Amino acid sequence: MAKYKISWMPGDGIGIDVMEAARIVLDKFKFDAEYVPTDIGWEFWCKEGDPLPVRSIQILKNTDCSLFGAITSKPKEEAEAELSPALKGKGLVYASPIVRLRQEFNLRTNLRPCKAYPGNPLNYKEGIDIVVFRENTEDLYSGVEFFPLPDEVRDTIKKHNAKMKKFDKHPGNEVAVSLRINTKTGCRNIITDAFEYAQKTGRKSVTIVEKPNVIRETSGLMVRTAREVAKKYPNIPLYEANIDAMCMWLLKNPLDYSVLVTSNMFGDIISDLCAQLVGGLGFASSGNIGDNYAVFEPTHGSAPKYAGKHKVNPMAMLLTVVLMLEWLGEKDKAVVLENAIASVIKEGKVRTYDMGGNSSTLDIANSVAAKL
Ligand code: NAI
Ligand code: MG
Repeated sequence: MAKYKISWMPGDGIGIDVMEAARIVLDKFKFDAEYVPTDIGWEFWCKEGDPLPVRSIQILKNTDCSLFGAITSKPKEEAEAELSPALKGKGLVYASPIVRLRQEFNLRTNLRPCKAYPGNPLNYKEGIDIVVFRENTEDLYSGVEFFPLPDEVRDTIKKHNAKMKKFDKHPGNEVAVSLRINTKTGCRNIITDAFEYAQKTGRKSVTIVEKPNVIRETSGLMVRTAREVAKKYPNIPLYEANIDAMCMWLLKNPLDYSVLVTSNMFGDIISDLCAQLVGGLGFASSGNIGDNYAVFEPTHGSAPKYAGKHKVNPMAMLLTVVLMLEWLGEKDKAVVLENAIASVIKEGKVRTYDMGGNSSTLDIANSVAAKL
Protein backbone atom coordinates (compact mmCIF):
# COMPACT_ATOMS: atom_id res chain seq x y z
CA MET A 1 0.00 0.00 0.00
CA ALA A 2 1.21 3.50 -0.77
CA LYS A 3 2.19 5.76 2.12
CA TYR A 4 -0.38 8.41 1.16
CA LYS A 5 -3.76 8.41 -0.51
CA ILE A 6 -4.39 11.67 -2.33
CA SER A 7 -7.65 12.73 -3.91
CA TRP A 8 -6.73 13.89 -7.43
CA MET A 9 -9.07 16.64 -8.65
CA PRO A 10 -7.93 18.29 -11.88
CA GLY A 11 -11.37 19.92 -12.35
CA ASP A 12 -11.67 21.54 -15.76
CA GLY A 13 -10.06 24.16 -18.03
CA ILE A 14 -6.38 24.76 -17.25
CA GLY A 15 -6.87 22.80 -14.03
CA ILE A 16 -6.19 19.75 -16.18
CA ASP A 17 -3.04 21.27 -17.74
CA VAL A 18 -1.45 22.28 -14.45
CA MET A 19 -2.28 19.00 -12.71
CA GLU A 20 -0.37 17.20 -15.49
CA ALA A 21 2.58 19.38 -14.52
CA ALA A 22 2.15 18.51 -10.84
CA ARG A 23 2.20 14.83 -11.67
CA ILE A 24 5.45 15.09 -13.64
CA VAL A 25 7.16 16.52 -10.57
CA LEU A 26 5.62 14.07 -8.08
CA ASP A 27 6.47 11.11 -10.31
CA LYS A 28 10.06 12.28 -10.63
CA PHE A 29 10.20 12.19 -6.84
CA LYS A 30 8.79 8.66 -6.98
CA PHE A 31 6.41 10.03 -4.36
CA ASP A 32 4.84 7.15 -2.50
CA ALA A 33 1.20 7.99 -3.05
CA GLU A 34 -1.92 6.58 -4.60
CA TYR A 35 -3.75 9.28 -6.56
CA VAL A 36 -7.50 8.70 -6.52
CA PRO A 37 -9.26 10.38 -9.47
CA THR A 38 -12.05 12.58 -8.08
CA ASP A 39 -14.82 14.21 -10.13
CA ILE A 40 -15.36 17.94 -9.69
CA GLY A 41 -16.25 20.77 -12.01
CA TRP A 42 -18.51 22.17 -14.67
CA GLU A 43 -18.92 18.95 -16.63
CA PHE A 44 -20.57 17.30 -13.62
CA TRP A 45 -22.89 20.22 -13.06
CA CYS A 46 -24.06 20.04 -16.69
CA LYS A 47 -24.37 16.24 -16.82
CA GLU A 48 -25.48 15.42 -13.27
CA GLY A 49 -26.69 18.68 -11.78
CA ASP A 50 -23.93 18.62 -9.16
CA PRO A 51 -20.39 19.96 -9.67
CA LEU A 52 -19.24 17.97 -6.61
CA PRO A 53 -21.02 14.61 -6.73
CA VAL A 54 -21.58 12.66 -3.51
CA ARG A 55 -19.08 9.98 -4.66
CA SER A 56 -16.36 12.66 -4.67
CA ILE A 57 -17.14 13.69 -1.09
CA GLN A 58 -16.84 10.02 -0.21
CA ILE A 59 -13.36 9.84 -1.79
CA LEU A 60 -12.26 12.90 0.12
CA LYS A 61 -13.37 11.27 3.34
CA ASN A 62 -11.11 8.32 2.57
CA THR A 63 -7.93 10.14 1.55
CA ASP A 64 -5.18 12.03 3.41
CA CYS A 65 -5.64 15.25 1.47
CA SER A 66 -6.60 16.54 -1.92
CA LEU A 67 -4.79 18.23 -4.77
CA PHE A 68 -7.08 20.34 -6.88
CA GLY A 69 -6.56 22.17 -10.22
CA ALA A 70 -9.35 24.62 -11.03
CA ILE A 71 -12.97 24.69 -12.07
CA THR A 72 -15.32 26.88 -14.03
CA SER A 73 -18.16 28.57 -12.17
CA LYS A 74 -20.90 30.62 -13.83
CA PRO A 75 -23.66 32.92 -12.51
CA LYS A 76 -27.08 31.46 -11.68
CA GLU A 77 -28.89 32.01 -15.00
CA GLU A 78 -26.01 30.80 -17.18
CA ALA A 79 -25.52 27.74 -15.00
CA GLU A 80 -29.20 26.82 -15.33
CA ALA A 81 -29.03 27.30 -19.12
CA GLU A 82 -26.16 24.82 -19.51
CA LEU A 83 -27.79 21.98 -17.58
CA SER A 84 -28.59 18.91 -19.66
CA PRO A 85 -32.24 19.09 -20.87
CA ALA A 86 -33.40 16.34 -18.51
CA LEU A 87 -32.20 18.33 -15.48
CA LYS A 88 -33.63 21.73 -16.44
CA GLY A 89 -36.52 23.22 -14.50
CA LYS A 90 -35.96 20.95 -11.50
CA GLY A 91 -34.95 23.82 -9.28
CA LEU A 92 -31.26 22.84 -9.20
CA VAL A 93 -29.12 25.75 -8.01
CA TYR A 94 -25.41 25.97 -8.77
CA ALA A 95 -23.24 26.38 -5.67
CA SER A 96 -19.47 26.75 -5.82
CA PRO A 97 -18.00 23.35 -4.97
CA ILE A 98 -14.88 24.98 -3.49
CA VAL A 99 -16.92 26.96 -1.01
CA ARG A 100 -18.81 23.74 -0.26
CA LEU A 101 -15.59 21.80 0.31
CA ARG A 102 -14.36 24.48 2.68
CA GLN A 103 -17.59 24.39 4.66
CA GLU A 104 -18.21 20.63 4.65
CA PHE A 105 -14.69 19.68 5.68
CA ASN A 106 -14.27 22.72 7.91
CA LEU A 107 -11.14 23.78 6.02
CA ARG A 108 -11.01 26.86 8.17
CA THR A 109 -7.62 28.24 7.24
CA ASN A 110 -6.63 29.50 3.84
CA LEU A 111 -2.87 29.79 3.57
CA ARG A 112 -1.54 31.91 0.72
CA PRO A 113 2.21 32.48 0.50
CA CYS A 114 3.40 35.26 -1.83
CA LYS A 115 7.14 35.17 -2.29
CA ALA A 116 9.15 37.07 -4.91
CA TYR A 117 11.52 34.41 -6.19
CA PRO A 118 14.76 36.12 -7.26
CA GLY A 119 14.99 36.77 -10.97
CA ASN A 120 11.26 36.59 -11.70
CA PRO A 121 10.82 39.44 -14.21
CA LEU A 122 7.25 39.85 -12.93
CA ASN A 123 8.27 40.73 -9.37
CA TYR A 124 6.96 44.11 -8.31
CA LYS A 125 10.00 44.41 -6.04
CA GLU A 126 12.69 41.91 -5.12
CA GLY A 127 12.54 40.55 -1.57
CA ILE A 128 8.78 40.48 -1.04
CA ASP A 129 7.84 37.55 1.19
CA ILE A 130 4.31 37.77 2.54
CA VAL A 131 2.07 34.99 3.80
CA VAL A 132 -1.66 35.65 3.99
CA PHE A 133 -3.82 33.78 6.49
CA ARG A 134 -7.42 34.08 5.38
CA GLU A 135 -10.31 32.78 7.45
CA ASN A 136 -12.05 30.37 5.13
CA THR A 137 -15.56 29.45 6.29
CA GLU A 138 -17.29 32.47 7.84
CA ASP A 139 -17.73 36.19 7.24
CA LEU A 140 -19.54 37.55 4.19
CA TYR A 141 -19.03 34.19 2.50
CA SER A 142 -21.17 32.31 5.03
CA GLY A 143 -23.91 32.20 2.41
CA VAL A 144 -26.61 33.57 4.75
CA GLU A 145 -28.27 35.90 2.29
CA PHE A 146 -31.73 37.24 1.54
CA PHE A 147 -33.30 38.43 -1.66
CA PRO A 148 -36.00 39.50 -1.59
CA LEU A 149 -35.80 40.50 2.05
CA PRO A 150 -38.65 38.82 3.99
CA ASP A 151 -40.69 41.23 6.13
CA GLU A 152 -40.14 39.03 9.16
CA VAL A 153 -36.37 39.31 8.87
CA ARG A 154 -36.61 43.04 8.30
CA ASP A 155 -38.85 43.54 11.34
CA THR A 156 -36.63 41.48 13.59
CA ILE A 157 -33.54 43.41 12.56
CA LYS A 158 -35.40 46.69 13.08
CA LYS A 159 -36.40 45.61 16.55
CA HIS A 160 -32.77 45.15 17.51
CA ASN A 161 -31.13 47.90 15.49
CA ALA A 162 -32.75 51.24 14.71
CA LYS A 163 -30.41 51.89 11.80
CA MET A 164 -32.51 49.43 9.79
CA LYS A 165 -35.31 52.08 9.63
CA LYS A 166 -33.34 53.90 6.98
CA PHE A 167 -34.33 51.17 4.50
CA ASP A 168 -38.09 51.32 5.24
CA LYS A 169 -38.87 53.12 2.01
CA HIS A 170 -37.51 50.24 -0.11
CA PRO A 171 -39.82 47.28 -0.79
CA GLY A 172 -38.50 43.80 0.08
CA ASN A 173 -37.99 42.88 -3.54
CA GLU A 174 -35.56 45.77 -3.89
CA VAL A 175 -33.39 44.97 -0.88
CA ALA A 176 -30.61 42.37 -0.81
CA VAL A 177 -28.95 41.39 2.47
CA SER A 178 -25.78 39.32 2.89
CA LEU A 179 -24.80 38.68 6.47
CA ARG A 180 -21.24 39.01 7.65
CA ILE A 181 -21.04 36.37 10.37
CA ASN A 182 -17.85 35.94 12.36
CA THR A 183 -17.42 33.84 15.47
CA LYS A 184 -14.97 34.20 18.32
CA THR A 185 -13.79 30.64 17.61
CA GLY A 186 -13.27 31.43 13.93
CA CYS A 187 -11.30 34.57 14.77
CA ARG A 188 -9.22 32.81 17.40
CA ASN A 189 -8.39 29.87 15.14
CA ILE A 190 -7.17 31.88 12.16
CA ILE A 191 -5.19 34.29 14.32
CA THR A 192 -3.61 31.45 16.29
CA ASP A 193 -2.66 29.72 13.04
CA ALA A 194 -0.99 32.92 11.84
CA PHE A 195 1.01 33.34 15.06
CA GLU A 196 1.96 29.66 15.23
CA TYR A 197 3.22 29.86 11.67
CA ALA A 198 5.13 33.06 12.40
CA GLN A 199 6.73 31.44 15.42
CA LYS A 200 7.68 28.22 13.62
CA THR A 201 9.14 29.97 10.59
CA GLY A 202 10.85 32.83 12.42
CA ARG A 203 8.72 35.58 10.91
CA LYS A 204 9.22 39.13 12.14
CA SER A 205 5.58 40.22 12.65
CA VAL A 206 1.89 39.52 12.25
CA THR A 207 -0.44 42.19 10.89
CA ILE A 208 -4.18 42.00 11.45
CA VAL A 209 -5.98 43.57 8.50
CA GLU A 210 -9.59 44.63 9.15
CA LYS A 211 -11.80 47.74 9.36
CA PRO A 212 -12.90 47.99 13.00
CA ASN A 213 -13.47 51.74 12.91
CA VAL A 214 -16.47 51.21 10.60
CA ILE A 215 -17.46 47.54 10.82
CA ARG A 216 -17.40 47.73 14.57
CA GLU A 217 -18.76 44.35 15.56
CA THR A 218 -17.27 41.81 13.12
CA SER A 219 -13.96 43.53 12.38
CA GLY A 220 -13.93 44.60 16.01
CA LEU A 221 -14.15 40.98 17.13
CA MET A 222 -11.22 40.06 14.88
CA VAL A 223 -9.01 42.85 16.19
CA ARG A 224 -9.90 42.33 19.86
CA THR A 225 -9.23 38.61 19.49
CA ALA A 226 -5.92 39.31 17.75
CA ARG A 227 -4.80 41.43 20.71
CA GLU A 228 -5.73 38.60 23.08
CA VAL A 229 -3.96 35.88 21.09
CA ALA A 230 -0.89 38.09 20.56
CA LYS A 231 -0.24 38.10 24.32
CA LYS A 232 0.78 34.45 24.05
CA TYR A 233 3.49 35.37 21.54
CA PRO A 234 5.44 38.18 23.20
CA ASN A 235 8.31 37.89 20.71
CA ILE A 236 6.18 38.54 17.66
CA PRO A 237 4.82 42.08 17.32
CA LEU A 238 1.18 42.48 16.25
CA TYR A 239 0.49 45.36 13.88
CA GLU A 240 -3.01 46.57 13.04
CA ALA A 241 -4.00 47.97 9.66
CA ASN A 242 -7.24 48.89 7.93
CA ILE A 243 -7.97 46.92 4.78
CA ASP A 244 -8.24 49.99 2.55
CA ALA A 245 -5.03 51.58 3.77
CA MET A 246 -3.33 48.20 3.56
CA CYS A 247 -3.93 48.03 -0.19
CA MET A 248 -1.97 51.26 -0.44
CA TRP A 249 0.77 50.29 2.00
CA LEU A 250 1.33 46.97 0.25
CA LEU A 251 2.16 48.82 -2.94
CA LYS A 252 4.21 51.47 -1.18
CA ASN A 253 6.21 49.37 1.29
CA PRO A 254 5.67 45.68 0.54
CA LEU A 255 8.88 44.68 2.32
CA ASP A 256 7.47 45.92 5.65
CA TYR A 257 5.00 43.04 5.85
CA SER A 258 5.48 39.40 6.72
CA VAL A 259 2.38 37.54 7.95
CA LEU A 260 -1.06 39.04 7.28
CA VAL A 261 -4.17 37.68 8.95
CA THR A 262 -7.70 38.62 8.03
CA SER A 263 -11.29 37.53 7.53
CA ASN A 264 -12.65 35.68 4.52
CA MET A 265 -13.57 38.40 2.03
CA PHE A 266 -10.76 40.81 2.91
CA GLY A 267 -8.39 37.85 2.64
CA ASP A 268 -9.75 36.94 -0.76
CA ILE A 269 -9.09 40.47 -1.99
CA ILE A 270 -5.77 41.15 -0.36
CA SER A 271 -4.27 37.81 -1.33
CA ASP A 272 -4.94 38.59 -5.00
CA LEU A 273 -3.18 41.91 -4.51
CA CYS A 274 -0.23 40.16 -2.83
CA ALA A 275 -0.14 37.53 -5.60
CA GLN A 276 0.26 40.25 -8.19
CA LEU A 277 3.23 41.69 -6.29
CA VAL A 278 5.12 38.45 -6.94
CA GLY A 279 4.17 37.58 -10.50
CA GLY A 280 0.42 37.16 -10.57
CA LEU A 281 -1.83 34.15 -10.78
CA GLY A 282 0.87 32.03 -12.37
CA PHE A 283 2.69 32.05 -9.01
CA ALA A 284 -0.10 32.07 -6.42
CA SER A 285 -0.44 28.85 -4.43
CA SER A 286 -2.87 28.07 -1.64
CA GLY A 287 -3.91 25.52 0.94
CA ASN A 288 -7.37 25.12 2.48
CA ILE A 289 -6.51 23.58 5.79
CA GLY A 290 -8.65 22.03 8.50
CA ASP A 291 -7.84 20.00 11.58
CA ASN A 292 -7.95 16.66 9.78
CA TYR A 293 -8.03 17.37 6.08
CA ALA A 294 -6.67 19.82 3.55
CA VAL A 295 -7.30 20.73 -0.08
CA PHE A 296 -4.40 22.32 -1.95
CA GLU A 297 -5.06 24.43 -5.05
CA PRO A 298 -3.48 27.19 -7.08
CA THR A 299 -5.37 30.47 -6.57
CA HIS A 300 -6.14 30.88 -10.26
CA GLY A 301 -9.31 29.68 -11.96
CA SER A 302 -9.92 27.61 -15.07
CA ALA A 303 -8.87 30.31 -17.60
CA PRO A 304 -11.09 28.73 -20.31
CA LYS A 305 -9.36 30.45 -23.22
CA TYR A 306 -6.12 28.58 -22.46
CA ALA A 307 -7.73 25.22 -21.60
CA GLY A 308 -5.85 22.25 -23.00
CA LYS A 309 -3.28 24.44 -24.75
CA HIS A 310 -0.47 23.80 -22.29
CA LYS A 311 0.33 27.49 -22.34
CA VAL A 312 -0.24 28.61 -18.75
CA ASN A 313 2.32 28.82 -16.01
CA PRO A 314 2.33 25.76 -13.74
CA MET A 315 4.49 27.45 -11.05
CA ALA A 316 1.38 28.23 -8.95
CA MET A 317 0.46 24.55 -9.08
CA LEU A 318 4.01 23.37 -8.34
CA LEU A 319 4.24 25.76 -5.37
CA THR A 320 0.92 24.30 -4.26
CA VAL A 321 2.55 20.86 -4.31
CA VAL A 322 5.24 22.33 -2.01
CA LEU A 323 2.50 23.34 0.45
CA MET A 324 0.98 19.86 0.28
CA LEU A 325 4.32 18.18 0.94
CA GLU A 326 4.93 20.47 3.94
CA TRP A 327 1.49 19.71 5.35
CA LEU A 328 2.01 15.96 4.92
CA GLY A 329 5.23 16.31 6.91
CA GLU A 330 7.49 15.66 3.90
CA LYS A 331 9.66 18.66 4.77
CA ASP A 332 12.76 17.54 2.90
CA LYS A 333 10.92 16.98 -0.35
CA ALA A 334 9.14 20.31 0.06
CA VAL A 335 12.46 22.13 0.39
CA VAL A 336 14.01 20.30 -2.56
CA LEU A 337 11.02 21.10 -4.76
CA GLU A 338 10.90 24.76 -3.74
CA ASN A 339 14.61 25.10 -4.45
CA ALA A 340 14.18 23.49 -7.87
CA ILE A 341 11.35 25.91 -8.67
CA ALA A 342 13.44 28.87 -7.47
CA SER A 343 16.40 27.84 -9.57
CA VAL A 344 14.32 27.39 -12.75
CA ILE A 345 12.88 30.89 -12.19
CA LYS A 346 16.33 32.37 -11.58
CA GLU A 347 17.93 30.75 -14.63
CA GLY A 348 15.09 32.02 -16.82
CA LYS A 349 15.74 29.51 -19.60
CA VAL A 350 12.15 28.31 -19.70
CA ARG A 351 9.35 30.82 -19.29
CA THR A 352 5.64 30.69 -20.08
CA TYR A 353 3.86 33.50 -21.91
CA ASP A 354 3.05 35.46 -18.74
CA MET A 355 6.79 35.76 -18.06
CA GLY A 356 7.45 36.89 -21.61
CA GLY A 357 8.54 33.49 -22.92
CA ASN A 358 7.00 30.81 -25.09
CA SER A 359 7.75 27.62 -23.17
CA SER A 360 4.87 25.27 -22.50
CA THR A 361 3.35 24.24 -19.20
CA LEU A 362 5.08 20.89 -19.48
CA ASP A 363 8.48 22.42 -20.44
CA ILE A 364 8.43 24.16 -17.07
CA ALA A 365 7.39 21.02 -15.20
CA ASN A 366 10.10 18.98 -16.92
CA SER A 367 12.77 21.60 -16.14
CA VAL A 368 11.77 21.61 -12.49
CA ALA A 369 11.69 17.79 -12.42
CA ALA A 370 15.16 17.65 -13.96
CA LYS A 371 16.52 19.50 -10.92
CA LEU A 372 15.05 17.17 -8.33
P1 NAI B 1 -8.73 32.84 -14.07
O1 NAI B 1 -7.83 32.77 -12.91
O2 NAI B 1 -9.23 31.57 -14.60
O3 NAI B 1 -7.96 33.56 -15.24
C1 NAI B 1 -7.81 34.95 -15.40
C2 NAI B 1 -6.61 35.23 -16.30
O4 NAI B 1 -5.42 35.08 -15.54
C3 NAI B 1 -6.45 34.22 -17.44
O5 NAI B 1 -7.18 34.58 -18.57
C4 NAI B 1 -4.98 34.29 -17.67
O6 NAI B 1 -4.68 35.41 -18.47
C5 NAI B 1 -4.40 34.50 -16.29
N1 NAI B 1 -3.98 33.24 -15.66
C6 NAI B 1 -4.67 32.46 -14.79
N2 NAI B 1 -3.94 31.42 -14.41
C7 NAI B 1 -2.76 31.53 -15.05
C8 NAI B 1 -1.56 30.73 -15.06
N3 NAI B 1 -1.45 29.62 -14.34
N4 NAI B 1 -0.54 31.15 -15.85
C9 NAI B 1 -0.63 32.25 -16.55
N5 NAI B 1 -1.72 33.05 -16.59
C10 NAI B 1 -2.77 32.69 -15.83
O7 NAI B 1 -9.94 33.80 -13.66
P2 NAI B 1 -11.27 34.16 -14.45
O8 NAI B 1 -11.00 34.36 -15.88
O9 NAI B 1 -11.88 35.25 -13.68
O10 NAI B 1 -12.21 32.90 -14.28
C11 NAI B 1 -12.29 31.82 -15.20
C12 NAI B 1 -13.16 30.74 -14.58
O11 NAI B 1 -12.49 30.19 -13.42
C13 NAI B 1 -14.51 31.24 -14.07
O12 NAI B 1 -15.48 30.29 -14.38
C14 NAI B 1 -14.31 31.37 -12.57
O13 NAI B 1 -15.52 31.22 -11.87
C15 NAI B 1 -13.37 30.23 -12.30
N6 NAI B 1 -12.54 30.38 -11.08
C16 NAI B 1 -12.24 29.24 -10.40
C17 NAI B 1 -11.40 29.26 -9.33
C18 NAI B 1 -11.00 27.96 -8.73
O14 NAI B 1 -11.16 26.92 -9.35
N7 NAI B 1 -10.46 27.96 -7.54
C19 NAI B 1 -10.83 30.52 -8.81
C20 NAI B 1 -11.12 31.65 -9.64
C21 NAI B 1 -11.98 31.58 -10.71
MG1 MG C 1 -10.22 34.93 -5.11
